[in-house]
Amino acid sequence: PRTIVVTGSGSGIGAALATLFRDRGDRVIGVDLRGGEIDADLSTAQGRARAAAAAARAAGGVVDAVVTCAGVSVPGGAMVSVNYFGTTEFVTALRPALAAAPRARVVLIGSVSGTQPHDPAVVAACLAGDEDKALTLAGRAIAGGRAQQLYPSSKAALAQWARRTAVAEGWADAGIPVNVVAPGIVLTPMSAGLFDDPRMKKIMDKAVPMPLNGYSRPEDIARVVLFLASDANSHITGQVLYVDGGAEATLRGPED
Ligand code: NAI
Repeated sequence: PRTIVVTGSGSGIGAALATLFRDRGDRVIGVDLRGGEIDADLSTAQGRARAAAAAARAAGGVVDAVVTCAGVSVPGGAMVSVNYFGTTEFVTALRPALAAAPRARVVLIGSVSGTQPHDPAVVAACLAGDEDKALTLAGRAIAGGRAQQLYPSSKAALAQWARRTAVAEGWADAGIPVNVVAPGIVLTPMSAGLFDDPRMKKIMDKAVPMPLNGYSRPEDIARVVLFLASDANSHITGQVLYVDGGAEATLRGPED
């Protein structure tokens, strides 16, 4: 059996993924605020470092795949600290344990929102690894009435980090694919509140049009992650794979 580390394993996409892996006989080390194999707060540098060390220890120093599902959608600093740094720093800290596995894989959960208008300064600060600056800029965006740009910013930065990391920082040379799965709207506790208000639902349906099969279930996303995290994925790396019912193709049009 392979050993898979899943962040955000307690809910939504992460929980569906943990079930799918376990059903196949893999060993899952779940990381979440509470209730996982490892309880940790990925919004802090210390929490990430401790969680990665604990995961590597629990895995006996060999991790076959890391999938990062932990994320938040409430505008605030946590969008930077959890969605971006809680992913990138956690994955980076696990690199030695991944390198110790024969066919390691990394999959990050992004979002089609990453293609939408974002704050370039926040994205740049993230990619520079400057969390303090990114947090300051996020605070400014909120104060300046641009809070809606933060989630796209965190996911755009994540996609760029994955593309850079996959090929330019030795991960490909080490045989480790790094990819992003970017959903549209998934029916999970995170999105549940959005549909309570019919006006909000209308706004969401316009922002994330999903002509193919509508909203997805966590399992629809998890199945694609399973492939990218498996041995069967030998040559896909640095890609953002939209699993979004056609949202990205609709929003960006045929030329992209
Ligand atoms: P969810 O809210 O059901 O699950 C997220 C999990 O992350 C929770 O178990 C939560 O406890 C954990 N988490 C949050 N902050 C944490 C922290 N500081 N430390 C450790 N764990 C933390 O959300 P869902 O829908 O399963 O989302 C998973 C990922 O998919 C997120 O990155 C989200 O941005 C992304 N996504 C979700 C979409 C949706 O419509 N639900 C659409 C596109 C992307």
